[in-house]
Amino acid sequence: MPITTCVFDAYGTLFDVAAAARQAASEPEFAALKDSWPQVAEHWRQKQLGYSWLRAVTGAHTDFWEVTQNALDWALEKTSHDGNPALRARLLALYWELQAFPEVPAMLRTLKDAGLNTAILSNGSPQMLDGAVKSAGIGDVLDALLSVESVGVFKPDAKVYDLVGQHFGCAKADVLFVSSNGWDAAAATGYGFETAWVNRSAEPVDRLPWTPVHTLKELTEIPQLAGA
Ligand code: LAC
Repeated sequence: MPITTCVFDAYGTLFDVAAAARQAASEPEFAALKDSWPQVAEHWRQKQLGYSWLRAVTGAHTDFWEVTQNALDWALEKTSHDGNPALRARLLALYWELQAFPEVPAMLRTLKDAGLNTAILSNGSPQMLDGAVKSAGIGDVLDALLSVESVGVFKPDAKVYDLVGQHFGCAKADVLFVSSNGWDAAAATGYGFETAWVNRSAEPVDRLPWTPVHTLKELTEIPQLAGA
């Protein structure tokens, strides 16, 4: 079956989640982050994902914005930047306007020009996704922003992946699902999507019952994979 629908994870895949800490560290007011921003970004991201999984398995759902703030508070304390409310506020503000990776706009445009459906499928709340898409200027090349908030549980619950078929009326095999999160691409393979893992930092493959179908360094090859 040809691919009709390309669906992208948001954070880490289209949007650079390290950009918030990197940007703050470059601002004179937050020079305290100069050396530690990579650790802050890494702890923030790992806790954010960990909290999303724990909330999913315990049924204690809250929206991704709450999880993102909880994770940042842990990361700031871990790196001894707690007690700096201006830094906390700046990092949170930057999270609403994360940069898209440079290849994203042209890649999405190629998919749209070839007549494929395009969407984001993300843990992010509708408001967060709206903010990120607007600030990256890619709203006109995305047909849908699908948020887990409509099912009240985080990835990789199958109810989240079900949103794609419900929205586009397509079969699982018609979908190319793209994520920089190895676990997300793996779980989506188990679900039945064709998958591409964007492994920008050459991470080892996750030891899970499923593996991503394709592994790429960045997103430029996606149109070719999708037959666009
Ligand atoms: C998302 C997270 C998992 O956008 O990156 O869903």
